[in-house]
Amino acid sequence: MGAIDYYRRMREASSRSSKAAGFGIEALPRIARGEGSYLVDARGRRYLDGSGGPAAFSIGHGNREVNAAIAAQLERVACGYRYLFTSEALEELTALVLRLAGGDFEHVVYTSSGSEAVESAMKLALQYFDACGAPERRHFIARERSYHGNTLGALSVSGFAERRRPFEGSLLDVSFVSAANAYRPPAGVAPADRIDHWAAELDARIRSIGPQRVAAFMFEPVVGAAGGAVPAPPGYAAAIAAVCRRHGVLLIADEVMCGAGRCGSWRALEADGVVPDVMTVAKGLAGGYIPIGATLLRRGIGAAILARHGAFMTGHTYSGHTTACAAALAVQRLIERDGLIARVRERGPRLLEELRERLEPIAAVGDVRGRGYLIGIELVRDRATKLPYEPQRAVAQAVARHAFEHGLIVYPCAGNAGEGRGDTLIVAPPYNASDAELEELVEKLSASLAATLARSRRRA
Ligand SMILES: Cc1ncc(COP(=O)(O)O)c(C=O)c1O
Repeated sequence: MGAIDYYRRMREASSRSSKAAGFGIEALPRIARGEGSYLVDARGRRYLDGSGGPAAFSIGHGNREVNAAIAAQLERVACGYRYLFTSEALEELTALVLRLAGGDFEHVVYTSSGSEAVESAMKLALQYFDACGAPERRHFIARERSYHGNTLGALSVSGFAERRRPFEGSLLDVSFVSAANAYRPPAGVAPADRIDHWAAELDARIRSIGPQRVAAFMFEPVVGAAGGAVPAPPGYAAAIAAVCRRHGVLLIADEVMCGAGRCGSWRALEADGVVPDVMTVAKGLAGGYIPIGATLLRRGIGAAILARHGAFMTGHTYSGHTTACAAALAVQRLIERDGLIARVRERGPRLLEELRERLEPIAAVGDVRGRGYLIGIELVRDRATKLPYEPQRAVAQAVARHAFEHGLIVYPCAGNAGEGRGDTLIVAPPYNASDAELEELVEKLSASLAATLARSRRRA
């Protein structure tokens, strides 16, 4: 299926169900306000935010404390341009982010989105090698079934055929190695040998390109939209980190979706005991209150760049925007004060279990996996063979639409099984969702799955 077909189908599905729900042709409901874990439209319909949109809204909506911090910053000044001024918000956010990230990070470079954070990670890797006298290290390696953003550079490292296709020919020349997915593992490799298999594949790829030509390997510790919340299997991250280290290749962890506490630790990779050289974070940083992303550099990397070039050559007009920093600072302080990451770490496995138990009777649910509050549900035609649905049926879209019409937001993803096939739903509630709200989520999602899949079986 081509990307154009994919987007046309999404629009058609949206307009069909908008019509059915009485919103009128092509109309989406008009957002009116947010109240904690709920969004309310102009007609007064309430939606439980079960996925934070695309896993962005980490502390729910309409938080008075965060809104007050934003308003207070706007009262003083909206933005002091970064080449002329620093600010209290930027300085305090930087100190907090470096403390929360732990590991050995030394510099934070701000952006206004996840894609820009990925672009910055790529450019800073290139700038680092230029500064170190290794300017021939220009090549990036990434993974199949990954998504790193929509700008040309970030799309170039994304293993997401449906989103790349219209731009092929103008993307960077990036090498891709296999995804590491425990539910769809490499054929013919014994489970005990998988980690060695993936590490050997990366090692061989670096050698075939020439280690002195490779700048960085980029991966999502928990794959988001391209895989449907696929955590790296235990031992994977440490094994690939060792391969990168052996060849002097930088390890870039893209934590735009899985970072900032979403997986039960501030960095998702903390659970794997791995510290990358460069990491990105965005969605959960200011929890959707104001767009902001960041690229973190491990000790030594930024210093080498600054010593040689004097500045990080990756800024934009609004990088480090003062009010965006104030929003992120307020969100991160609230998360820390209220122990919300511990809440995700403790409650996440129970939510996963509850979903597994509740969805087990639905034959089309092939896998329920995830880490913390980033959970994926994979839908298959046949549980035994893991056969995906035909892409034209847009099953995940249909379930998400049904859920939306019944007051629940979940995030549908397509294509994770390759060649446009594969249907998954991401569940990613706010960290401060109550137990009752999580129960409502499980209840409404299982009802939507059962209703939609029964309908789709009747049509089959
Ligand atoms: C892992 C990952 N990286 C990068 C991006 C791009 O972020 P943005 O949409 O904020 O540009 C996304 C967005 O979904 C993402 O999930």
